[in-house]
Amino acid sequence: NTPLRLGIAGLGTVGTGVVKIIRQQAALLSARAGRDVVITAVSARDQSRDRGVSLTGYAWETDAVALAKRDDVDVFVELIGGDTGVAKDAVEAALALGKDVVTANKALLAHHGQSLAEMAENNGSVIRYEAAVAGGIPVIKSLLEGLAGNEITRVMGVMNGTCNYILTNMEKSGRGYNALFDECAELGYLEADPNLDVGGIDAGHKLALLASIAFGTQVDFDAVELEGIQRIELQDIKHAAEMGFRIKLLGVTQMTGRGLEQRMTPCLVPAESPLGQLEGGTNMVVIEGNHVEQVVLRGPGAGMGPTASAVMGDVMDIARGIRIPTFGVPAAKLQKATSAKAASP
Ligand code: NDP
Ligand code: HSE
Repeated sequence: NTPLRLGIAGLGTVGTGVVKIIRQQAALLSARAGRDVVITAVSARDQSRDRGVSLTGYAWETDAVALAKRDDVDVFVELIGGDTGVAKDAVEAALALGKDVVTANKALLAHHGQSLAEMAENNGSVIRYEAAVAGGIPVIKSLLEGLAGNEITRVMGVMNGTCNYILTNMEKSGRGYNALFDECAELGYLEADPNLDVGGIDAGHKLALLASIAFGTQVDFDAVELEGIQRIELQDIKHAAEMGFRIKLLGVTQMTGRGLEQRMTPCLVPAESPLGQLEGGTNMVVIEGNHVEQVVLRGPGAGMGPTASAVMGDVMDIARGIRIPTFGVPAAKLQKATSAKAASP
């Protein structure tokens, strides 16, 4: 029984959720993995803060790069966030040493996915990032594994819990944007920079990652057509409802004759449709493949428990020896896609 030793960098909403799961369910994880899964070291900025979970028995590093380099860390779990700075430096430090990485950081992968995937493969490491897309829903695993026998024709869905929470509750409660935004903060949904949420950028990051896996293309976030929800007013939501529609921040990616379409914009969807009925922080991802036809995945898209659940799914795969290239095929074989300008919805 060689234990798998984790270093957890970031002890906020997601990081403390991961610590809680490992402390609560050590025996279950060990039985399923066939080996112990243990935390050896953790990192955050403020060591004095009470995080509502015991950190007894773990070494502390204020510097996440130092954590990534520790000899007693096999898997570096990056739960800090941000596409530059310490998260990127620490992930690169771990990969350079041939360590596996688990991250929830869609911004990092949307901007640097190709170079990080190449670095991982050159060093014999894997990068797993289930929590980066649609919180607790195992959408990456579905595309990488369960649907690997399909040519994927389209992926679409609602992928930002904050936007869906605000839009659905504006309609249900008639309350304004600001009050609902504050509730999202309490629920732990928001990015450190919430403009990423309401500007559609966070959801765009997620769509770019799904497009890469689905179509075997290099991640191209800059080609995502983006529009956020900041300009949507109660009046718009009421008018849509009167016509039998709801407004959703909807992502669509498909390969067209003109190239790869990636679009994340507010759309009218029929109120009675599964997407129209999606409430609160729930996400939904619809995957279409040439053999499976259509698979619909629905579940909590953000928050402590669901996101930590996804992180642990990745940790468990690594503990079991499951090793898949970052975007499903070796990084050198990912094509540069021509971007198609999508027609307006
Ligand atoms: P939080 O802001 O709650 O936590 C971030 C943690 O990172 C904190 O513990 C903070 O330390 C630590 N940190 C920040 N800067 C540094 C630094 N320079 N050096 C060392 N540690 C640092 O974020 P979340 O837990 O919400 O999110 C983490 C990641 O998970 C992000 O990539 C996010 O996009 C992603 N994610 C989040 C989801 C959610 O529902 N919250 C869902 C899916 C993905 P300290 O506590 O001391 O300030
Ligand atoms: N801020 C993100 C959301 C977290 O609201 O969906 C989950 O990725």
